[in-house]
Amino acid sequence: MRERALLSFLLAAAVACAPAADPPEPAPEDAASTANEPVTLDARTETLSDGREVEVFELASPSGVRVELIEVGASISRIQAPDRDGTLADVALGFEQVEQYLENPPYLGCAVGRVANRIAGAKFELDGETYELAANDGPNHLHGGPGGYCKVLWEGEAAGSPGAPAVRFTYTSPDGEEGYPGTLEAAVTYTLDAEGALRIDYQATTDAPTPVNLTNHSYFNLAGAGSGTILDHVLELRASRYTPVDDTLIPTGELASVADTPFDFTAPTAIGARIQEVGGDPVGYDHNYALDAEGGSLELAARLHDPASGRAMDVLTTEPGVQFYSGNFMDGSLSGRGGAYPQYAALCLETQHFPDSINQPDFPSVVLRPGETFSSTTVYRFSTR
Ligand code: GLA
Repeated sequence: MRERALLSFLLAAAVACAPAADPPEPAPEDAASTANEPVTLDARTETLSDGREVEVFELASPSGVRVELIEVGASISRIQAPDRDGTLADVALGFEQVEQYLENPPYLGCAVGRVANRIAGAKFELDGETYELAANDGPNHLHGGPGGYCKVLWEGEAAGSPGAPAVRFTYTSPDGEEGYPGTLEAAVTYTLDAEGALRIDYQATTDAPTPVNLTNHSYFNLAGAGSGTILDHVLELRASRYTPVDDTLIPTGELASVADTPFDFTAPTAIGARIQEVGGDPVGYDHNYALDAEGGSLELAARLHDPASGRAMDVLTTEPGVQFYSGNFMDGSLSGRGGAYPQYAALCLETQHFPDSINQPDFPSVVLRPGETFSSTTVYRFSTR
């Protein structure tokens, strides 16, 4: 009772100190007048058909950007962003049902690990030991294996501070999981700011040496999920080199110049402009770019723009590379928010260390050792122009 009386007093005092009249609620699309509004966080619980409960979090920014996050795969299950007239659209592909993320063949929106991208021959050597992994992409290991971090339940909790809320997901990956050595304690924190920038902070520690490469696998279509392809989107990549690949998409080890090739996005270029010249089966971009900034500090890596809607997205990262994947493997057989997803329905910009780094001594190292902390940050910053 005494506590309740004290609480009532504090509430009354807070009300008394508040300005006499609250300013009127600004219209959601009026970004300028919402600059001082806080970002909000809501949470709800959903139950999977096997009875497990899953927390669903929603961050809403006064910029109009809204982000939904779920414990399955620590996934971004929805991103809504306004166009130049303030109209919201789903700018990332996603499923309507949380349940669907347990399967999620294309890795929509999820956190990928323990090692994102490919490991050649599904094996590697570390400190004289050979480790065998699942071959789930032809002869290679892809995205942490069939039971990788996309498919597991993370534990989510509200984090950050009032007005600047965040959602933090944690997962303990046991020693030997998917063939990787060492218990990895992984955390992924999502923070949305008032201007519409979604920041992702990754952290991990281990009790034995292990490779680590964490990323997010969101598929962006700034015109709206299910509304055609991204071939008219204009992309700029701050990368003058890329890692050419063999026919199983393993880097040859070379860092090749993008100059005079269809891989050149150093100046803003429509994705469809030269995609047919890229070749591959299926045709399209599925390549790692070596960022000019080389990683270590948070730098602009990519700029994406949909001229029709005016929506734009900048990608900043501390990582040395980014996998530009143009949705080549999509073929209309998968449906999600907005309908069926045809080839090139969306694109991924997966910030990362280079593919197959654990087998490529000349690439920046992905080895994490006990006593070290893996940390990595990527920002997807939404705006209009
Ligand atoms: C990554 C890979 C692609 C594809 C997608 C998932 O981006 O590089 O080859 O496997 O994931 O479909």
